[in-house]
Amino acid sequence: MKKFKRHLVTAALPYTNGPVHIGHLAGVYIPADIYVRYLRMKEEDVVFVCGSDEHGVPITLKAKNEGVSPQEIVDRYHAIIKQSFLDFGILFDNYSRTSNKIHHKTSSDFFKTLYDKGEFLEKESEQYFDTEANQFLADRYIKGTCPKCGNPEAYGDQCEKCGSTLNPTDLINPKSTISGNTPSLKSTKHWFLPLDKHEPFLKEWILENHKEWKSNVYGQCKSWIDSGLQPRAVSRDLDWGVPLPIEEGKGKVLYVWFDAPIGYISSTKEIKPNWEEYWKSDETKLVHFIGKDNIVFHCIVFPAMLKAHGEFILPENVPANEFLNLEGNKISTSRNWAVWLHEYLEDFKDQQDVLRYVLTANAPETKDNDFTWKDFQARNNNELVAILGNFINRVVVLVNKYYEGIVPTPNNLEQIDLAVLDEINIAKEEIERNIENYKFREALKCAMQLARAGNKYLTETEPWKLIKENPERVKTILYVCIQISGNISILFEPFYQIVVFKLESF
Ligand code: 2FM
Ligand code: ZN
Repeated sequence: MKKFKRHLVTAALPYTNGPVHIGHLAGVYIPADIYVRYLRMKEEDVVFVCGSDEHGVPITLKAKNEGVSPQEIVDRYHAIIKQSFLDFGILFDNYSRTSNKIHHKTSSDFFKTLYDKGEFLEKESEQYFDTEANQFLADRYIKGTCPKCGNPEAYGDQCEKCGSTLNPTDLINPKSTISGNTPSLKSTKHWFLPLDKHEPFLKEWILENHKEWKSNVYGQCKSWIDSGLQPRAVSRDLDWGVPLPIEEGKGKVLYVWFDAPIGYISSTKEIKPNWEEYWKSDETKLVHFIGKDNIVFHCIVFPAMLKAHGEFILPENVPANEFLNLEGNKISTSRNWAVWLHEYLEDFKDQQDVLRYVLTANAPETKDNDFTWKDFQARNNNELVAILGNFINRVVVLVNKYYEGIVPTPNNLEQIDLAVLDEINIAKEEIERNIENYKFREALKCAMQLARAGNKYLTETEPWKLIKENPERVKTILYVCIQISGNISILFEPFYQIVVFKLESF
């Protein structure tokens, strides 16, 4: 495996049309944070960036519904999201926002470079127009029936049911989401990224050279490429977004999916004067953490943009997760069916890592999964308390009771001691291997396995029975237990921080 000099880790920029919920955490932010905590512990050079995705139709629609400006919406949710990540312990090196000047300049320069290089197709085409609202109907401004799966609620850019990416004109029976009217067609000019031109490169880069990508990611890319890539418009007739930096594009903005991933670059620029070392050197390992609905944009569209630009590296991996449901139903911001992070933090004070643990143990890594409060309670009681807490607590209580909290000096190590100490090395190797392969659930299981081994060792050695007749042996046993506890706390660090407090009260 190639050894990289530095790491650049990105987590999908959340849309600021609502707060962050447990589905976002389980799918993107917790895995990304575990990976980064691990790299930081290994003292690797790592930059972890994210920020708010403040453009796009969902935001303008929300503003329209509430009768406020889009700026008011993004200011409100940017503040909530940023604070909740901080309070939850997701420690980005930078949490930026795409309304920042630096991002407008970076994304507009990026467009201009591609434009000057002749990397776009210019096309005049007929687009849906709402005559009542006097507006073109891009993306979510239009709804209709998905031509692929028949979902009657598909949007102009994507069907959330089957995951297909669509053009508004693909929809059957289209309706404006502003007025509900059937739209008419009107001519307009747009700039397209010719994905078909990049197909041979994408085929080789992903299908030949990245066979190691997660099967859900690889599979989605393969099906996209196999069905033939089409040019995609990167401009929109909207008034909210990054203005097109060309004369003929007056009154138009960049498509949100063109500017949003460039947000990773702007976010790095904001904090790193040497940002180019992270984005332009093949000694950097770039990894994008995203949810499954973002796969095509991160594996196909953004890499095609980066390649067309010519100066940037491509991601080494894009470990996308599937979706998390809540109590058997799809999580939905618009239907308010979610456990919102900022509300969890209010209701469960100082219990950040319980949620972090549960969402990792039950992460939708290979298939959609369900979050239930029953499972949350069971994992807390049967795993965190009964296995991990129980072991650490017994060790701390016994060492305080027998040795006033001072680690005893061991005598000869017996076979049973050596065997359990060996479990530490096994756990370390397995955790590292799993984290490096983005298998965080499995890595966490290995860490918990060490706590189980510690409990089993205590049960078998029964130091509380030996303390009178063989105190020297008890010193060795508790020395071994302390070694296990210390290592558990290190090995759990990326997943769950163990805090032992009120030692003095024993
Ligand atoms: O799905 C989303 O929430 C998008 N806002 C993710 C954008 S990721 C990136 F490209 F910025
Ligand atoms: Zn569909």
